[in-house]
Amino acid sequence: MRILSQIQIFFLSIVILLLITISSSTSSTYSNKTNLDYIKTSCNLTLYKNICYNSLSPYASTIDSKPQKLAVTALNLTLSSAKSALKVIKAISHKTGLTRLEVAAVNDCVEEIGDSVSELQDSLRELDSINNKDSSKFEMVVSDVQTWASAALTNDDTCMDGFGRAGTVMKDLVRQHVVNVARLTSNALALINMYASTHKN
Ligand SMILES: *[C@@H]1O[C@H](CO)[C@@H](O)[C@H](O)[C@H]1NC(C)=O
Ligand SMILES: *[C@@H]1O[C@H](CO)[C@@H](O)[C@H](O)[C@H]1NC(C)=O
Ligand SMILES: *[C@@H]1O[C@H](CO)[C@@H](O)[C@H](O)[C@H]1NC(C)=O
Repeated sequence: MRILSQIQIFFLSIVILLLITISSSTSSTYSNKTNLDYIKTSCNLTLYKNICYNSLSPYASTIDSKPQKLAVTALNLTLSSAKSALKVIKAISHKTGLTRLEVAAVNDCVEEIGDSVSELQDSLRELDSINNKDSSKFEMVVSDVQTWASAALTNDDTCMDGFGRAGTVMKDLVRQHVVNVARLTSNALALINMYASTHKN
């Protein structure tokens, strides 16, 4: 009797586990092939395809094959990475033992990446608030967003240029974070451009 109930509990657990697996795989963001294929095809237009797909695929169901949501999500991820890069670079700038060149370069980066964060915030706010029906406003908003996102990308380059050609541990540390932001920004910009072009048709 005791053993029987344990066996029953065992099978009941398996049935429950199966049900959970089935229901989560049908409602999971990963299950809808249409939405995932949309991200794959869109990311194919970006420079860093794998980063694009890997970062955006968890949001496939939110994006729901919509170019505006795709661009907004890509911008939002870029903003998050710029914010965390800024935090790291600020921490580096407070370290002791930096050379004079490194101090100057890291401080410049804090400023440049700080500007990027504001530009990405502005872009995200504008792009998120776009009113699809007002097409006269659309062109202007998208043009602003393109300008801000490009400026953010330029800041990343300017930040790295400040270190000069000498390779140092500090430079590598900063670069690691800035390169990641730059790649996400480049991808987001490509997806914004894609959104702009699909809207014209
Ligand atoms: C994916 O989801 C969309 C709506 O979000 C739906 O229209 C479409 O039929 C779904 N495709 C599949 C293969 O489930
Ligand atoms: C990506 O683009 C290339 C051409 O640039 C094309 O051959 C390939 O089929 C595309 N892949 C996807 C997944 O769209
Ligand atoms: C951006 O992402 C955060 C979570 O990381 C979310 O709270 C916020 O609503 C998102 N903003 C937009 C405009 O999608």
